[in-house]
Amino acid sequence: MVNKITVVGAGNVGATAAQRIAEKELARTVVLVDIQEGIPQGKALDQWQSAPIEGFDSRVIGTNGYDETKDSDIIVITAGIARKPGMSRDDLLNTNAGIVKQVSEQIKSTSPNAILIVVSNPLDVMSYVAMKVTGFPRERVLGMAGVLDTARYRAFLAEALDVSVRDIQAMVLGGHGDTMVPLISYTSVSGIPITQLLSKEKLDAIVDRTRTGGAEIVKFLKTGSAYYAPSAAAVQMCEAIVHDQRRILPCAAWLTGEYGMNGLFLGVPCKLGRRGLEQIIEVELTNGEREALTKSADAVREPMAAVKL
Ligand code: LAC
Repeated sequence: MVNKITVVGAGNVGATAAQRIAEKELARTVVLVDIQEGIPQGKALDQWQSAPIEGFDSRVIGTNGYDETKDSDIIVITAGIARKPGMSRDDLLNTNAGIVKQVSEQIKSTSPNAILIVVSNPLDVMSYVAMKVTGFPRERVLGMAGVLDTARYRAFLAEALDVSVRDIQAMVLGGHGDTMVPLISYTSVSGIPITQLLSKEKLDAIVDRTRTGGAEIVKFLKTGSAYYAPSAAAVQMCEAIVHDQRRILPCAAWLTGEYGMNGLFLGVPCKLGRRGLEQIIEVELTNGEREALTKSADAVREPMAAVKL
């Protein structure tokens, strides 16, 4: 375990992430921060009181300030408003950019060596805001989305095939929006290419459902967006870093020439280890996949240019 992991934002995603981190004992101390008075303190105390039952020794604390977060090893940023039905992630742009900017300024002065995992939406642009404001190197700023989008894709495939989710290998690249790119050519079931097991029509329907997977849940919940799978995804990234697992996970990373692109965060296969981003893996893409990735990059560049810092 590391010494300290902070989760900023004690809403559904943040609080569930803190709980998962504590239950997995990824850090000696888990700090939950929020500007709302009492909420992080209450949720943290409640989680800490579950420790004797669940049997974990990570200490969970809640706070409204950043003193307790000092020298965090990893910081998961979930602060911001969530979507309501009919809203796109880009509708959250300037409100959340302001929030992520303030959070990043605090982090810069209290935890200058932390690795950041950005979850606030629109995710790819918020990762850019966090990197720009903190001045951290790209190795220490990652966005969570590909793991979530891939999990949704894998869940739908497992359901359609009636097989274990464990046996589905897949990767969804691109921005965390409707233009995301599920890579059919890299989707397999225990090594069997997916195209041998599912018809094109069924696969296309699953790809479409994956792309709108977040909105499907917002439509049900009405007052907020998904949080069980998003928190699980962020914590899987934490786990890969804490245990230096060198896992290859799709994450939003700052591109400096990879996939022929520069100067934006985009979901690509990343090797995660103790230093954060250890490597970006470049895979061969079909012409269609490359085109779709370029289109997805354009969809990220547009709000990125509009964001006020
Ligand atoms: C989703 C939100 C968290 O995809 O972006 O559910």
